[in-house]
Amino acid sequence: MRKPLIFGNWKMNLDMKHSDDLVRSLLSVKIDYRSVDVGVAPDFCSLAMVRKTIKDMNIPISVAAQNMSDQEKGAFTGEVSADMILSTGADTVIIGHSERRAIYGESDVLINSKVRLALRLGLSVILCVGEVLEEREAGTAVEKVLYQIGMGLRNVDMDRIQDVVIAYEPVWAIGTGKTATPVDAEEMHAAIRKQLSKLYGPVVANKTRILYGGSVKPDNIGALMLRENIDGALVGGASLNIGDFIKIINFNN
Ligand code: PGA
Repeated sequence: MRKPLIFGNWKMNLDMKHSDDLVRSLLSVKIDYRSVDVGVAPDFCSLAMVRKTIKDMNIPISVAAQNMSDQEKGAFTGEVSADMILSTGADTVIIGHSERRAIYGESDVLINSKVRLALRLGLSVILCVGEVLEEREAGTAVEKVLYQIGMGLRNVDMDRIQDVVIAYEPVWAIGTGKTATPVDAEEMHAAIRKQLSKLYGPVVANKTRILYGGSVKPDNIGALMLRENIDGALVGGASLNIGDFIKIINFNN
C-alpha cells in the first residue's frame, strides 16, 4: 500500500514574508500525517527559513528545492548545488519540471545528471515527466513519457530508486485549468508503473509513488485519487491558497 503524498510547488510566487505566512498557516492546521505525506517546495531564498519553521514545530512535512545544479561545486555563477540544498535541511529536489525543460531548455541528459547527483549526495528526487498537447493529440503521449522516464532514470541504481518519486504532469494541464481525466491520467500512471517494473522489478514498481500534476484542485483531487496508480499530487497554483491546499491534502475526508 502506497501512502499518498501531496506536494505543493510554490514556484516563483512568494517572497520570504509570504512563504513564512504560508508555511505557518499550513502548520497551524491539524492534519493526520499518519494517512498522508505532505511536502512543500519554496523558492531558494525561503528554503532554509521554511525548513527551520517546520523543524522547530516538529511536524513531518518534507521540504524540496525546485531545481538544482548538475555540478557539485565551483565557478557556476547563479547555480545552487545539492550540498547547499542539503545544508538548508531540505530533503528533496524537484527535477525536470516542464517549466525547466521548456523555458530553460533542460535536456533529458542534463536532467539525468541532476537526478544521479542528487541521489548520490542524499537528496530524494521528484522526477517530473509529461507530454505536450501536440503529443497527446498525435497519440504519442505514452511513448514520450516513457522515454523521459528511461532517460531520467538512466544509471540510477536499484539501491537509490526508493528515493525517487515520479510526477506525471501533462504540460497542457499545468496552470491552464485543464486536467487530464482520471481515466487518461490512470492510463499514463499504469504505463509508468509497468515501465518501472521492467527497469527495477515489480517490488520497486509497486512501492514507487507516482504523483499527478496539472491544475489539481479541491474539486478534482478526489476522483484522481480513486485511481489505483495515482498516489498523490504535485500542486502548483492551488498550493498557494491554504484553504485549497488543505482540502487537497484532506481529499479523503
Ligand atoms: P498547477 O501546477 O497546479 O498550477 O497546474 C502544477 C505544477 O506545475 O507542478
